[in-house]
Amino acid sequence: MRVSRTIKKYRYLTWHTVRTTALYTYLLIKGVIFNTLAILCPTCVRQLLFSLNKKAYVHFRHLFFPILAFFIARDTNGAFVLEIGTGHATLAKYLSTQPKDFAKMYGLNLPLYTVTVEKSKKFYKKFHKKLQKLANVLHINADGYQVLRLFGPKSLDMIIILFPDPWHKARHHKRRPLTTEFFKQAYWRLKPDGKILIATDHKEYFTFILNNLLEFSDKFKITQGRFEPKNLRIPPTHYYKKWARVKKQSYYILAEKSQK
Ligand SMILES: C[S@@+](CC[C@H](N)C(=O)[O-])C[C@H]1O[C@@H](n2cnc3c(N)ncnc32)[C@H](O)[C@@H]1O
Repeated sequence: MRVSRTIKKYRYLTWHTVRTTALYTYLLIKGVIFNTLAILCPTCVRQLLFSLNKKAYVHFRHLFFPILAFFIARDTNGAFVLEIGTGHATLAKYLSTQPKDFAKMYGLNLPLYTVTVEKSKKFYKKFHKKLQKLANVLHINADGYQVLRLFGPKSLDMIIILFPDPWHKARHHKRRPLTTEFFKQAYWRLKPDGKILIATDHKEYFTFILNNLLEFSDKFKITQGRFEPKNLRIPPTHYYKKWARVKKQSYYILAEKSQK
């Protein structure tokens, strides 16, 4: 009895080791190929990622995204936008239409390349099929604040976070990602006139974010006020509409990196 149990356990462990080794070897080879290509020809890799094989790219992002992100975002005549919290994908769909008035308002060159990151698996799965078909949009299932850290210095033109989770309870405040550390990381990754746009319906969270940002007032030109999507040349997203329906006011913060 004990012998057969040990054999079973041994067989399982061997099978598990073989499977894991095969998977990681495959990832390693794929990562090395993509990263080498990204260094040699960032433009080709960017076109490939943003058009053809997004699913494969998403699954294996951990291995080859860091170097790719570094190269593909720097080498472009267009603009790179990072959206954190895709939600119902309203903004990503809109950005894929290459809106001229949006680009003009934020001083961005067309075409726009949007990397939109959704943490929730459920939301990601629900909207991925549609987003996969859009031109110049890359939909990733990950933590957006970690993805930000994968970009190289001066590689992003804009970071957009619409209605981030406010973590209402005081004991959860430490989970809020829009801290001074976030602005430090974002500043380093933004191009010289890069921008951060944040909107929230939560007045206390708005004050929290603004206070953190004000610590960088020599690095960013800050504007803030009541959030009206059309004034900011963006579409009303699901959460904006949700709060507008119950007449709840939303607020925005726009931080423009100083040219210095
Ligand atoms: C309140 S919803 C807002 C969605 C959309 N931006 C809108 O305006 O309708 C917040 C979204 O951000 C996602 N989210 C929360 N934390 C995230 C993170 N760390 N990285 C990426 N997405 C995140 C949530 O899963 C959710 O879909």
